[in-house]
Amino acid sequence: MNLKLQGKTAFITGSTSGIGWATARALAQEGVHVILNGRGAVGVSTAVEKLRKEFNEVEVKGVAADFLYPDQIKALLGQLSEVDILINNVGIYSSASFTKTSDEDWYRQIEVNLMSGVRLSKYVLPKMLHRDWGRILFISSECATLVPEDLIAYSTTKAALLSLSRGISQLTSGSGVTVNTIVPGSTLTKGAEEFLATVAAKENKTKATVSKAFFNDARKSSLLQRFAEVKEIADTITYFSSPLSSATNGAVIKVDGGSMGGIL
Ligand SMILES: NC(=O)c1ccc[n+]([C@@H]2O[C@H](COP(=O)([O-])OP(=O)(O)OC[C@H]3O[C@@H](n4cnc5c(N)ncnc54)[C@H](OP(=O)(O)O)[C@@H]3O)[C@@H](O)[C@H]2O)c1
Repeated sequence: MNLKLQGKTAFITGSTSGIGWATARALAQEGVHVILNGRGAVGVSTAVEKLRKEFNEVEVKGVAADFLYPDQIKALLGQLSEVDILINNVGIYSSASFTKTSDEDWYRQIEVNLMSGVRLSKYVLPKMLHRDWGRILFISSECATLVPEDLIAYSTTKAALLSLSRGISQLTSGSGVTVNTIVPGSTLTKGAEEFLATVAAKENKTKATVSKAFFNDARKSSLLQRFAEVKEIADTITYFSSPLSSATNGAVIKVDGGSMGGIL
């Protein structure tokens, strides 16, 4: 299938590793010029070089900015060229009980997970509407509705993205711009691999056994009953970044392996 993405430019937040990196890679494979992002200049330039080696026919750039700091976002906006596709992917979490989660922890997650998307969308939306084409995608999480009790702050920010995304989509009425949210379930990133390895070492089990136990206990509702590969999430993001997804706007697209339940 030709996704008709050739020559477009995408900015993906938090894309030196994980789902963001897999998305940048999948987009580059479709001929999209990509702008990578992470907190530090070294991490960003390493990721840029890695992707350039693989895809020399597209432009690969990088911009370091930590979304915890509004001044760094301001500087980042100054460096962003015309962006056809904005993937608001960056997300952080801290696992703690509700009563032990500090205000600072709440604000950190709100800044990075929610406000990064608010600020970037405010910047790119008018330009996209002017050009009459654009894609804004928010990367939420199954936690938006599952709300694990040690991740209430994280889950709250991920639920807020649904309203934000829907609200912004309503500003695109009659245009070629779409705004949607992708909702991944548990995905095998480096963080998930480390979690499995740590528990496996602690409990003297294999990673496969720990993973099985995770789906038996914490994610019983998953129909997939395994972690998704980052590529499975990235491929969905890539399709909804493309002109082929033009009739989907203001939507929530689940890539949760069925964990969230429901018929919609
Ligand atoms: N993994 C899952 O199971 C899962 C499930 C559902 C939803 N999600 C969501 O999917 C998105 C991607 O998740 P992931 O697991 O792939 O994430 P991840 O592996 O933790 O992502 C790491 C990326 O985020 C960047 N990053 C971290 N903090 C940053 C900050 N303050 N400013 C700028 N960049 C920052 C890192 O860059 P540097 O290290 O280079 O700074 C790196 O590129 C998140 O929004 C997450 O909530 C993930």
